[in-house]
Amino acid sequence: MATFQLDTFLAAQQARVEALLNERMNRLGPAGTPPRLAEAMHYSLMAGGKRLRPVLCLAFADIVARESTVSAVAGDAACALEYVHTYSLVHDDLPAMDNDDYRRGRLTNHKVYGEPMAILAGDALLTEAFTLVASGPEAARAALCRELAVAAGAAGMVGGQVLDIAEDRPAALDYLLRLHRMKTGALIRAACRMGVLAGGGDADALARAAAYGEAVGLAFQIADDVLDVTATAEQLGKPAGADAAAGRFTFPAVVGLEASRKLAKEKVSEAIAAVRPLEGEDGPLAALARYTVERQS
Ligand code: IPE
Ligand code: IPE
Ligand code: MG
Ligand code: MG
Ligand code: MG
Repeated sequence: MATFQLDTFLAAQQARVEALLNERMNRLGPAGTPPRLAEAMHYSLMAGGKRLRPVLCLAFADIVARESTVSAVAGDAACALEYVHTYSLVHDDLPAMDNDDYRRGRLTNHKVYGEPMAILAGDALLTEAFTLVASGPEAARAALCRELAVAAGAAGMVGGQVLDIAEDRPAALDYLLRLHRMKTGALIRAACRMGVLAGGGDADALARAAAYGEAVGLAFQIADDVLDVTATAEQLGKPAGADAAAGRFTFPAVVGLEASRKLAKEKVSEAIAAVRPLEGEDGPLAALARYTVERQS
């Protein structure tokens, strides 16, 4: 029986991420960023969100470093992940992509700032992510840059977004698994691995983070598909039923709701088994894995 207090842990970690993001966003103006661009970046980045990727990154960094004082490199890695994730949401919502009006409980970026600025704010968040990770003397930074770039790039998140909108996509399980692993799984896997790299973990910890991240990443996107069918727009802070409206092949559409939930749960068990040697029986990583499928938003 799990006794780990996830609610308390998650609230504290989310507050820690908000503070880290604020610190970095405050540097944009003095660095010469046009104010309207800084405002548009800030609008989507500081709009809440679960902060799952930075929380996972910091959790792995803390576990392998056996401390919870964030090193500058772990803080930068965590924020860079949220920058890249937020850019992907801003672009995902554009009329040319999913054409959504609400995100994180408020109007989407292009609805407020217009499409040209939304495109540029996304571009700037993506690029600034690498400014963050690449600035500083620590040797781990080059590996962190590579990890983030590969996960976000053509064979990762962007490639996955392409599979999602492909006209000739088949309604087949193996295609869907590949698509989810790329569009969502790759960045979540990178978040876990970047935590280990930033915390100075060994090769065994890195492999365990990869296995956990792959399983949690898949479970997380299956849950996103399930919630699109079962939750309300109010709960989600973004439109519900959007996948069916856009003609997307999702897990519930291809294998049904029950089989989707079952597969997500199997992935959570797999993730928990992978990190047991790192954190023992009842730690934050196991609780976060369960949260990815039990969440209501
Ligand atoms: C939404 O991600 C897009 C997906 C990759 C499924 P999240 O559900 O993590 O969105 P926020 O960050 O909490 O808003
Ligand atoms: C988006 O997937 C994944 C990204 C890489 C942004 P979705 O299109 O399912 O995300 P939501 O449901 O709009 O958050
Ligand atoms: Mg989409
Ligand atoms: Mg979308
Ligand atoms: Mg979705």
